[in-house]
Amino acid sequence: MKFGHFDDKAKEYVITNPKTPYPWINYLGNEDFFSLISNTAGGYTFYKDAKFRRLTRYRYNNVPVDNGGKYFYINDGGDVWSPGWKPVKADLDNYSCAHGMSYTRITGERNGVEAEVTYFIPLGTWAEVQKVKLKNTSGATKKLKFFSFIEWCLWNAEDDMQNLQRNLSTGEVEVEGSVIYHKTEFKERRNHYAFFSVNAPIQGFDTDRDTWKGTYNDFDRPDAVFEGEPRNSEAHGWSPCASHYLEIELAPGEEKDLTFVLGYIEVDKDNKWESKNVINKNPAKAVIERFDTVEKVDAELKKLSDYWSKLLSTYELTSGDEKLDRMVNIWNQYQCMVTFNMSRSASFFETGIGRGMGFRDSSQDLIGFVHQVPERARERIIDIASTQFEDGSAYHQYQPLTKRGNHTLGGGFNDDPLWLILSTTDYIKESGDMGILDEMVPYDNDESKATTHFEHLKRSFYFTVNNLGPHGLPLIGRADWNDCLNLNCFSEDPNESFQTTGNKKGFTAESLMIAGSFVLYGKEFIKLCQVLGKDDDAAEAQKHVDAMIEAVKKDGWDGEWYLRAYDYYGKKVGSSENEEGKIFIESQGFCGMAGIGVEDGLVHKSMDSVKEHLDCEYGIVLQQPAFTKYYIEYGEISTYPAGYKENAGIFCHNNPWIMIAEAQIGNGDRAFEYYRKVAPAYLEEISDLHKVEPYVYCQMIAGKDAFKPGEGKNSWLTGTAAWNYVAITQYILGVKPDYNGLSINPSIPSKWDGYKITRRFRGATYHIEVSNPSHVSNGVSSMEVDGKTIEGCIVPIQPEGTEVTVKVTLGK
Ligand code: GLC
Ligand code: GLC
Repeated sequence: MKFGHFDDKAKEYVITNPKTPYPWINYLGNEDFFSLISNTAGGYTFYKDAKFRRLTRYRYNNVPVDNGGKYFYINDGGDVWSPGWKPVKADLDNYSCAHGMSYTRITGERNGVEAEVTYFIPLGTWAEVQKVKLKNTSGATKKLKFFSFIEWCLWNAEDDMQNLQRNLSTGEVEVEGSVIYHKTEFKERRNHYAFFSVNAPIQGFDTDRDTWKGTYNDFDRPDAVFEGEPRNSEAHGWSPCASHYLEIELAPGEEKDLTFVLGYIEVDKDNKWESKNVINKNPAKAVIERFDTVEKVDAELKKLSDYWSKLLSTYELTSGDEKLDRMVNIWNQYQCMVTFNMSRSASFFETGIGRGMGFRDSSQDLIGFVHQVPERARERIIDIASTQFEDGSAYHQYQPLTKRGNHTLGGGFNDDPLWLILSTTDYIKESGDMGILDEMVPYDNDESKATTHFEHLKRSFYFTVNNLGPHGLPLIGRADWNDCLNLNCFSEDPNESFQTTGNKKGFTAESLMIAGSFVLYGKEFIKLCQVLGKDDDAAEAQKHVDAMIEAVKKDGWDGEWYLRAYDYYGKKVGSSENEEGKIFIESQGFCGMAGIGVEDGLVHKSMDSVKEHLDCEYGIVLQQPAFTKYYIEYGEISTYPAGYKENAGIFCHNNPWIMIAEAQIGNGDRAFEYYRKVAPAYLEEISDLHKVEPYVYCQMIAGKDAFKPGEGKNSWLTGTAAWNYVAITQYILGVKPDYNGLSINPSIPSKWDGYKITRRFRGATYHIEVSNPSHVSNGVSSMEVDGKTIEGCIVPIQPEGTEVTVKVTLGK
């Protein structure tokens, strides 16, 4: 069952039934200032950090779901409704919510009145604009009472929910003209305030939430709206809000536009006040003026749309499969940019007060957006590397506002450092910017300890070398990529965190996932050294990589697949000898991508084992058989019910590792079959089961052991976005940046006839045409650049500003 449809031309998903199985959301904003918005106008706004600068209040995990948002109410002669269906939930004659590239347009119609609200954050602006269009579609004159509504959050979202003894006494507002200002704590240590304005005279307002709605009413039945009488309330403590009241008369067929602006202002310390206790409103007025006419607002919408067209045009596919095209050209790239902006902080599954930026998560996210905004990728790499420790290990997370490592969580996730080699080498291949390696970058943000960024990579590599276990395999530490495989935790206390508790000393438990990652990114490090002419570094590193390959072949191969780990006691994890958890996806993915033992058929065998034991209708599950009891020596992984999360759920983040490994050994059919299973556009028809948005990936789909296999959870903020993008664009479609050019080596379903890609790369545009006359999966038989045959699969770098035509023919 579907709840809407894709409009690829407009780059929108248009929801036509407001009762989606779960709120289906979108993100507004591209730098600094952001909003989350659901298909019924739920959500909130923040500046930079969803925990420390939350502008509007939102209630997570509430009943009903998705309470609080950017609401409008229409009282049409006593009949009350909302354009987004919620909060009033009066039936609409027409409803649609178009989620587009950084904007959302919600339209509702009832009894001859149409209300369209377009929400967006103009580029370079710390404000959300809400453009409202009201139209009388009836034959009679309409006298409408129109109310806006938002609820202010008292800045620190965590404190806002907890510290009620203080917070219910601190709220302060000012109202001047049609602008409502929120100034809680402004007179003490804050130099910021927020405002909510409308570009028309108002006939009333409210700023005290409970006076406006009535203490015991929900947002669906505010007294002021239902009685058609604003209270003109002034908030003193309790819960400040902002509601404008406008009386609007519309002749038959008449249309009126209004622009609301929800903004954030920072002033300097000496310039905070206009007069005693009256805030300096000049900067707010300047922002309001930028959007006070429809023409100005439309011009900003156009700029936003141009911005996205440019970003997305870096990689454009024409495949003949509309679902594939919309994933590659629009939604997967869009999601990659959202994960770049949000990391794992704010979604409808992440509350914005929990996690900071992850060392591993942000490094992986980067590989999905580096082609769109390489300059910003560079800055991100330096931020991440600056939180590294001198021994090469790293803080697991850092805070976006301070860019400092998170002490509470600390380090000890031994996979972390290697991801820095991945992000940096991908960045250099995309941009050609070798200069980043010479940047002086601190350790633990201490400038006095700075070294070159190249040295950071070297220490990342040697961290693994210096932390090997009894089999010469990497020690796992608190966990590797799988946060829930906690081999040193041994937790008996339900109040302990599996991630941060290490009740045993971690000198034995080893990870085959890190072993694979070390070989894969170790090879990348070696290649980089060679490109730089650092032959001694390359030769030295090669010895360690060779030794790791040998260690995996000797003690990391189970006969049909790669082992997953050795536990604290030195016992195998992910072996046919185990009763449960016999085979895991991560080590197949990483040792497979690294090609360990490929010459002896190990990768092929491992991939066949994945197919046989882990594949199911909805994707590849994380391990099998699922754990059915708590294994104290394995930690959190065995706590989840079977089929969910790391306990045999389909963790969509790691499925592409298998796609890539399959693509590399030429199995294009299988690679693409796996791709389709988890790609959201292909799941649109089962939206009622899948539950989450059909336009973005989710972190997890319930696996075959679950109560409801196929049900998705935790959409948007997941490494799934970047990895699937890389798998499809670079390994299946096969267009991959390299140091000396654009490598083209497809691995596709054999029945495909071919496809076209336009790729902008280092300032030149490559028009690539792949044809597959003999219906193979893999293997380039000839390649022409502007009519000239070239040897090999790498199109040399073209001069900036030029366009070239590349013809690739597959065959034996
Ligand atoms: C979550 C975490 C990520 C981890 C994964 C597997 O997505 O953000 O860091 O690798 O779970 O446990
Ligand atoms: C939990 C989740 C895991 C996530 C981790 C982050 O363990 O199950 O997916 O990576 O929290 O802290």
